[in-house]
Amino acid sequence: MSIVVTGASGQLGPLVVESLLERGVDPAEIVATGRAVEKLGALADRGVRTERLDFDDVPDTVPWLGEGDVLLLVSGSEVGKRVPQHQAVVDLAVRSGVRRIAYTSAPAADDTTLAIAPEHAATEQLIRASGLPFTFLRNGWYTENYQQAFEQARETGVVTSSAGDGRVASAPRADFAAAAAAVLATEGHEGAVYELFGDVAWSFDELAAAFAEVLGRDVTYQRLMPDEHRALLVSFGLDEGTAGFVVALDQAIADGLLGLTPGDLSRLTGRPTEPLLETVRSWV
Ligand SMILES: NC(=O)c1ccc[n+]([C@@H]2O[C@H](COP(=O)([O-])OP(=O)(O)OC[C@H]3O[C@@H](n4cnc5c(N)ncnc54)[C@H](OP(=O)(O)O)[C@@H]3O)[C@@H](O)[C@H]2O)c1
Repeated sequence: MSIVVTGASGQLGPLVVESLLERGVDPAEIVATGRAVEKLGALADRGVRTERLDFDDVPDTVPWLGEGDVLLLVSGSEVGKRVPQHQAVVDLAVRSGVRRIAYTSAPAADDTTLAIAPEHAATEQLIRASGLPFTFLRNGWYTENYQQAFEQARETGVVTSSAGDGRVASAPRADFAAAAAAVLATEGHEGAVYELFGDVAWSFDELAAAFAEVLGRDVTYQRLMPDEHRALLVSFGLDEGTAGFVVALDQAIADGLLGLTPGDLSRLTGRPTEPLLETVRSWV
């Protein structure tokens, strides 16, 4: 039996593999896949089998996926193309006799106004329709999404957002990866839908305070109205579509969609999620 991970050439996937190894999973039983195989070298050096898998060109069969295997489908990053891409991987899993599949989804994917949710909801639906036993890992926000804001604060002393008093219960990728590894390496997760958030929901005033403490300089939170925020992002060179997307995500935060603390993440990993300040300290 193997544990097969897609997206191992990205940022989350290798942390899942790392977490599996920390749990004592035999590297020979892990298959790390990615489209850019040149990014899989470090995992190959650890004794993990590495294989190319392009979601746009999925073969009928592959020798490294078979009867009884457990598959983690890390959602792809090509927004707008993901539903057929994920369908192709799920179809391969069915043809290969995979025992169960886990998928990295989005908070309340099938019942939310979150702009990123529709492709995740459609993927959850197609996985349910496949008949494969599944686990949905509905990942909330990575703390690393604010690393660019940290760099901006270092230069300007300002954090800008149109999220108002909204809160974000973020956790670093490593915590989400540890939860995925727990689901892959242990039994009893069939049919589970985990809503994964950090243990603490922070406000943007608290984000600015964490940046200030780590940078040793004043950092203030500048509250923007959505239209002001969009115009600012466009002035920084973002296209209208991307700027609108970022503003919509901040609106979701203002609406409380990313500030929930159900505790599933720390329950799966068996440890508290990493506090905001600790993650920010690692960026210096
Ligand atoms: N919760 C959050 O805050 C948050 C934030 C950002 C993204 N996400 C989602 O979580 C996923 C994992 O996050 P991440 O930080 O690891 O993202 P990432 O670093 O952008 O990695 C994306 C991975 O998807 C793979 N991929 C994309 N298109 C592919 C294709 N056509 N065929 C095969 N592989 C493909 C990439 O492979 P190659 O590099 O080999 O092309 C890469 O391994 C993202 O893809 C996205 O769906 C969540």
